[in-house]
Amino acid sequence: MSELIPKSAEIPDSDYVIVGGTGDLALRKIFPALFWRYLAGQITTEFRLIAAARTTMTVEEFAAMLRPFCADAIADEDDGEAQWAGFIALIRIVTLDVVSGEGGVTLAELVNRRLSPERPLIFYLAIAPTLFGAACDTIATHGLAVPQSRLVVEKPLGHDGNSARAINKLLLNVFDETQIYRIDHYLGKETVQNLMALRFANTIFESQWGNHAIDHVQITVAETVGVDGRASYYDKYGALRDMIQNHLLQLVCLVGMEPPAYFNADQVRDEKLRVLRAIQPIAPADVVRGQYQAGKVNGAPVTGYLDELGEASNTETYVALKLKIENWRWAGVPFYVRTGKRLSQRASEIVITFKNRPHDIFTKPGAPAKPDVPNRLTIRLQPQEGLRLQLTSKEPGPGGMRLFPSELNLSFDDTFDQRLPDAYERLLMDVARGNQTLFMRLDEVLAAWDIIDPLIADIKKHALYNYKAGSMGPIQGDSLALSDAHAWIDPHEGDA
Ligand code: BG6
Repeated sequence: MSELIPKSAEIPDSDYVIVGGTGDLALRKIFPALFWRYLAGQITTEFRLIAAARTTMTVEEFAAMLRPFCADAIADEDDGEAQWAGFIALIRIVTLDVVSGEGGVTLAELVNRRLSPERPLIFYLAIAPTLFGAACDTIATHGLAVPQSRLVVEKPLGHDGNSARAINKLLLNVFDETQIYRIDHYLGKETVQNLMALRFANTIFESQWGNHAIDHVQITVAETVGVDGRASYYDKYGALRDMIQNHLLQLVCLVGMEPPAYFNADQVRDEKLRVLRAIQPIAPADVVRGQYQAGKVNGAPVTGYLDELGEASNTETYVALKLKIENWRWAGVPFYVRTGKRLSQRASEIVITFKNRPHDIFTKPGAPAKPDVPNRLTIRLQPQEGLRLQLTSKEPGPGGMRLFPSELNLSFDDTFDQRLPDAYERLLMDVARGNQTLFMRLDEVLAAWDIIDPLIADIKKHALYNYKAGSMGPIQGDSLALSDAHAWIDPHEGDA
C-alpha cells in the first residue's frame, strides 16, 4: 500500500528569499529545514535560496555560521559533505536594509533573472514584526510583489487583537490573503497532523467524539526550558500570548472541530474558526497564572524568572485554563489546557477521558462499588510521539473477575523506522506547493485574540502564583481541575 503513495510530493522550483536570513531563526530553523528537504530531493539544484540581511558577508562565512545547525543532517548521509557543498551552492547573500530600501535593487536584479509565473517567489520575514510593513513596501517598490509571490510570517503577529489587525493591514496592503502564510509551527508537527488522520481517517473515534461519550479533555504542553536569553522579549508576552493564543488554541481546534467536507485550506480553517468562536469568555476562576522560582530541572539547579529578567514582573510563565466550547458536540465537556516553562519534564500530550460505564456488572448488588478506571486516549505530541488507549482488562488467572487497567500503545518511533521531519520542513515545502491548510488565516488569528484579549485586559484580576522550577506548576493550577473533581494527568515521563 505504502508503495502506491509517493513519499514526498513534488515541489515546484522556487526562489526562497529569507529576509533576516543570517539571524537566529534562519540559522536555527529555516536553513536546517531547507537542508533536510534538499537531502530528501524536494529542493532541487534549480532552487535558489537567498539570505537577505543588513550584515554583509560572503557565502563561505555564512556557511561556516550555519554548519553547526546542520551537523546532524550532514552526518546522517554517506555523502554528507558533497550534499552540503551542493546545498551551499544554492545560497546567495544580499545585503538589504528593509527600512531604507538599500539593497532592494540588487535583490530585484538577482530575483528577476529567473522570474516566471510558474516559479514561486517566496519571502520569509524572519525579522521583528515592527519591520514587516517596511519589508513589504521594499518588496513592492522593487516590483517583487507579483502574483506568484508568497509571504511567510510568524508570531508574534501583535500583542493583542488590535495590534494584530494593524500588522496584518500592512501585509494586506501589498499581498492578498491567499499569498500570506502565517506559521504556527505546532501545525507542522507530525503528531499534530496525525491528530487529523486519527479523527478523520478512522471511523471508530468519531462516534465517540463528543459530550455523549467524553467526560473531559486535557492538553498539556510542558517545557523544561526557561526564557534563557529571551527574558526581555518574553516579559512583554508571557505564556498567554506566547503559547495559548496560538499553539494551544490550535490544538483545541483540532480536537474540537467538525469534519470538514474536504481536507483543503479554507474548509479546515472554517471549521477551526467555528471552534474558536464557540469558546465562551473565560471566567476569572478558570484562569491560573504562575511564575517559576529557582529550583532544579532534571537534577540541575536553575535560577528563577525574576533573576533571569533582573527586575520585578507580573508576567506569567505558566497558565492553566478551563475552556468551555458551547456547541452541540462539546457543551458540558471542559477542556483544561496548561503550559509552562521550567516544568519537571518536556512533554506535550492531549488526553481524552471518556465517561464512566453507566453500570458496573462486576460488583455484587450491595457490595461497595469499585472506582472506575475510565477509558482514556492519550495523544503524545512530543517527544516519543505516539498514541495510548487505556482499557480495562481482566487480570489473568482463576479466582474471580479482577479488573486492571491495560494499554494499547502505538509508538511512532517503533512503528516507523525513520526520522520524523521537523515542523518547519513540512511548512516550508507547503508554501512552495501553495498549500495553506496548515497556516493560520487572519480571521482565525483574530478570533484567538478575542479569547485572550479580555484576560489580558483584566490581568490584575488573575493572581500570579509562584511555582518551583522542576515542579508541574503552582498547586492552584491543580485545583482548577480538582474543582470539577478531575485531576491533571501528568505526561508519562520518558514513555510514549
Ligand atoms: C514558541 C514559543 O512559539 O514555541 C517558545 O515562542 C516555546 O516560547 C516554543 O518554547 C515551543 O516550541 P516546541 O516546538 O519546542 O514545543
